[in-house]
Amino acid sequence: MMRNNTPAALETDYKDTYPVDKNTATPSFLVSHLEKEISASGPLPFDKWMSECLYHPEWGYYSKGDTIVGRDGDFFTSVSVGKCFGMLLGYRIADYVKTNHIEGQLDLIELGANTGQLACDILDCLHSNFPQLYSNVRYTICEPFKIMQKKQIAILKNHHAIVDFHSTLNCIKQAKKHGIILSNELIDAFPVKLISKKDQQWNELHVGHDKEGFHFQTASIRSPQLLEFSEALPPLPDDYTTEFRTGLRAFAQSCASVLEQGMILTIDYGHVHSDYYAERRTSGTLRTFYNQTADENPLINAGEQDITAHVDFTQLAQTYQSAGFEPHYFDTQARFLILLANPWFKNIEESQQAPPTKLIRQFQTLTHPSMMGHQFSVLECSLNRTPDHKVLSKLEVR
Ligand SMILES: C[S@@+](CC[C@H](N)C(=O)[O-])C[C@H]1O[C@@H](n2cnc3c(N)ncnc32)[C@H](O)[C@@H]1O
Repeated sequence: MMRNNTPAALETDYKDTYPVDKNTATPSFLVSHLEKEISASGPLPFDKWMSECLYHPEWGYYSKGDTIVGRDGDFFTSVSVGKCFGMLLGYRIADYVKTNHIEGQLDLIELGANTGQLACDILDCLHSNFPQLYSNVRYTICEPFKIMQKKQIAILKNHHAIVDFHSTLNCIKQAKKHGIILSNELIDAFPVKLISKKDQQWNELHVGHDKEGFHFQTASIRSPQLLEFSEALPPLPDDYTTEFRTGLRAFAQSCASVLEQGMILTIDYGHVHSDYYAERRTSGTLRTFYNQTADENPLINAGEQDITAHVDFTQLAQTYQSAGFEPHYFDTQARFLILLANPWFKNIEESQQAPPTKLIRQFQTLTHPSMMGHQFSVLECSLNRTPDHKVLSKLEVR
């Protein structure tokens, strides 16, 4: 996401189509639900808290269906910048099909599709520039929330004949012969556990409640997975807090189960291991976003603000590997998109028409190092591939 200090020049094309009323009664329903849950079962592990705040079926930030991404919302994404991002992903898909000599049906599966805008931009690009490929594509959106599915169906009306919807990857019963699973800013929205160091000992942070409100409290680590993770961290000082993303293993396994051949294309913001757990990141990477403003208190505005943590790309790549995928590409969004834009620029040069200035401005926003170019990274991992040691070493996977 394009978070605080958003440059004023940021190009955004998509306007607020779903007005949000920040004064609705919903947050108080969620707050009292969370209070009741804590008094009935005790303090909540932070991943459970985050999950309730973002995905509670009725009152969660993402599930209630009024989250706006873009200028009028809480944050920007590369998708909300305009059609350029999806168009270039369309070029990447065409290149993948050509290089891998894929004939016949290609399945594109997207998660975290939000309004469906990225799907629409990719399919528009394939339809205009690669009609043969377009006729072989089936596009599946895995969207858990019906209210979002409705928006996706509406935006994809021109492509309805080739689009399917499922609520989760696990609902796809027949593995796809050739497929690409893609997402932009999905993994950062997966809930995390929080751990903090005191007296050289890692503890887990839970959310408790008393008459003063919600607060953090520490508890010893019980989960073997979290214990293993904390023990493998580099030496870090007391009062250091960081995150551990719990759902990755299950996600990677689900990805593997729906493909016979293909890849996962993940775009998100984050770091490799040594940078993620650098000593200077004493409060970790957990952030909240409300009205284009970043903060670090996830215990306020429940259901009304985004909660996110950066992606540990080393951990993500290792998790994909353990599900059978091998990383074959990892780089900044800037370098990824610049490479993809070559044929597009060539077409512009060769055509007799005026250059598409709007798209070119979007391209600059997406690739400029001080805008979105270096904040985001792209990881591609394929099934049935031999390891690429250069890519693994860039990812610090040993
Ligand atoms: C930051 S938004 C992504 C926005 C969009 N991709 C874009 O680039 O503008 C994260 C989205 O991921 C969705 N999400 C989180 N976990 C998911 C899961 N397991 N399956 C499908 N969607 C999920 C959320 O509901 C939310 O819509």
